[in-house]
Amino acid sequence: MTRQLLARTKFVLLLVALTPAIAQKPARQPARVSPSNPQLASPEIERRVDALLAKMTLQEKLGQLVQYNAAGSTSATVTNSQQNNLAANPEVGYRIDAMQLAANGEMGSMLNVPAARIHAYQQAAVEKSRLHIPLLFGADVIHGYRTVYPVPLALAASFDPDLVTSLARKAAEEASSTGVRWFYSPMVDISRDARWGRSVEGAGEDAYLGAAMARAYVRGYQNDRLSQPDSVAATIKHFAAYGATEAGREYNTTDMSLSRLFQDYFPPYKSGVDAGAASVMSAFNALNGVPSTANPYLLDTVLRRQWGFDGLVVSDYTAIMELMNHGIALDAATATEKAMNAGVDVDMMSRFYDTQSPTLIRSGRVPMAEVDESVRRVLRLKFALGLFDHPYPTQPEVTAVTPERRALALRAAEESIVLLQNKLVSNTPLLPLELGTKIALIGPLADSPREMVGSSGGVHRDSEVVTVKAGLEAHAGISIMYAQGTQILSNSDNGFAAAEQIARQADVIVLALGESASMSGEAGSRADLDLPGNQLELLDRIAAVGKPIVLLVFSGRPLVLTDAAQHAQAILEVWFPGIEAGNAIAHLLYGDVTPSGKLPMSFPEAIGQEPLYYNQFPTGRPATAIDLNKPPGPDSRFVSRYIDAPNAALFPFGFGLTYTTLSFSAVSVSRPTVLLRAAHPGAASLVTATVTVTNTGTRKAAEVVQCYVRNRGASLEQPVRSLQGFQRVTLAPGELKQVSFTLGFNELSFFDNAGKQVIEPTEYTVWIGADSRASSAAQFNIER
Ligand code: BGC
Repeated sequence: MTRQLLARTKFVLLLVALTPAIAQKPARQPARVSPSNPQLASPEIERRVDALLAKMTLQEKLGQLVQYNAAGSTSATVTNSQQNNLAANPEVGYRIDAMQLAANGEMGSMLNVPAARIHAYQQAAVEKSRLHIPLLFGADVIHGYRTVYPVPLALAASFDPDLVTSLARKAAEEASSTGVRWFYSPMVDISRDARWGRSVEGAGEDAYLGAAMARAYVRGYQNDRLSQPDSVAATIKHFAAYGATEAGREYNTTDMSLSRLFQDYFPPYKSGVDAGAASVMSAFNALNGVPSTANPYLLDTVLRRQWGFDGLVVSDYTAIMELMNHGIALDAATATEKAMNAGVDVDMMSRFYDTQSPTLIRSGRVPMAEVDESVRRVLRLKFALGLFDHPYPTQPEVTAVTPERRALALRAAEESIVLLQNKLVSNTPLLPLELGTKIALIGPLADSPREMVGSSGGVHRDSEVVTVKAGLEAHAGISIMYAQGTQILSNSDNGFAAAEQIARQADVIVLALGESASMSGEAGSRADLDLPGNQLELLDRIAAVGKPIVLLVFSGRPLVLTDAAQHAQAILEVWFPGIEAGNAIAHLLYGDVTPSGKLPMSFPEAIGQEPLYYNQFPTGRPATAIDLNKPPGPDSRFVSRYIDAPNAALFPFGFGLTYTTLSFSAVSVSRPTVLLRAAHPGAASLVTATVTVTNTGTRKAAEVVQCYVRNRGASLEQPVRSLQGFQRVTLAPGELKQVSFTLGFNELSFFDNAGKQVIEPTEYTVWIGADSRASSAAQFNIER
């Protein structure tokens, strides 16, 4: 081989090695996995799975790999396909009789079946089908079922994983009592772009916080053992990097380096898998050109081989069919082949696995061993859940919200609301309010039960929801002056006058503004993040009355509050707080509870800053040295900045005010240097960073103490800081506490562009404080 050719060959090999996501699927044998997840594995289960598999016909096996809803048909996505000239393909768009499939043993699982109909389907499967294999019922239980808690983004603002575990447990108890034993939750996609509507379903922009929340949900749903009748299998979704969708537009493509993928997007998925999640959902999006649902690098190389995942992979809704829309399959057979061979076990709603696979198996395009392995995974999960022994719920159905669950919903809402601004009015912060304060309550979200529960509000009844109006009235013991002012999306100012009139009679105005619940969630991307409709105009008009304003912002994502912050003295980001919305808000407004929530996503000053996140990479021309409030001049133009907006968030990640004052001591580290050879994977404690926090105010408060790390001098540039620890501490007035963070290999390492986690001899800075702008810092080095 000539030198030139050798060089070129090496280059090609290198390219393939560096871009595994776009490489062809490696020829692989589906490994017979002996599950190591104690939730799924037992010799007894393996014996039963093998015995059953041996009795199954091909059609019965494929049945276990398909999932339908009770409607028995696909919806909107089919129309898309038809528009793309795929209507001629008979496999696209269908109507099936799900009850008949259950009775025939040709359907393994169902999704989002109304509780009242679950029993009949299960009965058909268990009593009529040849092998009596029970169905597994899955559902999108996202932040509560009968009892609806704050939306997941709000729960992330609590920085309280134990709280999340408790309410996830309750959701599992409630839903399992109807027969649902599989949740399509938690959604752990990192979201750094507030335009993306599904930001509401996740834990926001940070990998460390996201990983903590992922564990918390899995622990709560699955509990100690899946076989307990009230345990529910968790699904980590959407694998992978669905939240990095370009321009924040739903279902759009994603493209990123492996270093970023491993460092910033993978940790929550991995953490959920490590916590024992029984299933993973492949995402709709393509990653680096390969749709996740046909991506062997993601589903096989990373998920199964690197992370040792031995549970079930389910596709997203009609995602296998959508491989044709992605343009990587020209027909249903190829779409099926690609999804199956990549490692998707269960076909949600495409109706391809059952119709296409027989031919593919016969022709050898899909190995029978691959199919058998997927069937094993489905059966194994059903055995692990105890469904063969108890196909019907053994607990009485939970039909009402109990006081205990309501109390948890209240605590969750109180912990997740974030105080963004609290200006002085007559030399005192506007909040908390005195009990006798005469309030005018204004706004389209002040008395709307439906809006309080967010875009996936379980099976709540509106009568169970405490609105802001109801909460304030109950708390103050009097009726409150109220005017709607405008609607969430309206151009009419017909209601302004009535609102102004009550504003004039009040001491303080509480304005409940924001998005409707349906403006976030799936397919809820927005290109504009202002308060919708004419709500900002309403705020302007009310501000002109000249009374202090407390603004309650309802939203499923960060909004641009730059103008609103000029008019309102106090701002509480309340998200969608769940059934106890009004009571939680009243407790915070009147100071019965001190706000402790912290932002899990940065709130931009201008929409053009998106995607915006605190842990950005440095640039060669940082804007740190110049005054960004001044317009760009000759000495301040050629730096990394906007000429018409600041770089910084209006309210950054980790930010949230309180009613007390806190002081942080200088940060100390346990040692100035660490030897590189000590910094091996598995080293859990290399350095301890410590700070003393004192409550210098007059109110008891919970504070989320946050630890950020920066690593300089490495072979790849590293973010300007990254969260590597947090602790919620409660402090009485005058009380001080020492708070320490242990930093080990996981906290100090980074991922290179081959996806390898490494530590290099470099310099580290650690900040500890109350948000991502914490300034108290210490340094140490890792040395050879
Ligand atoms: C969503 C998933 C959800 C599934 C089933 C899809 O459209 O992306 O998150 O679990 O529907 O309802």
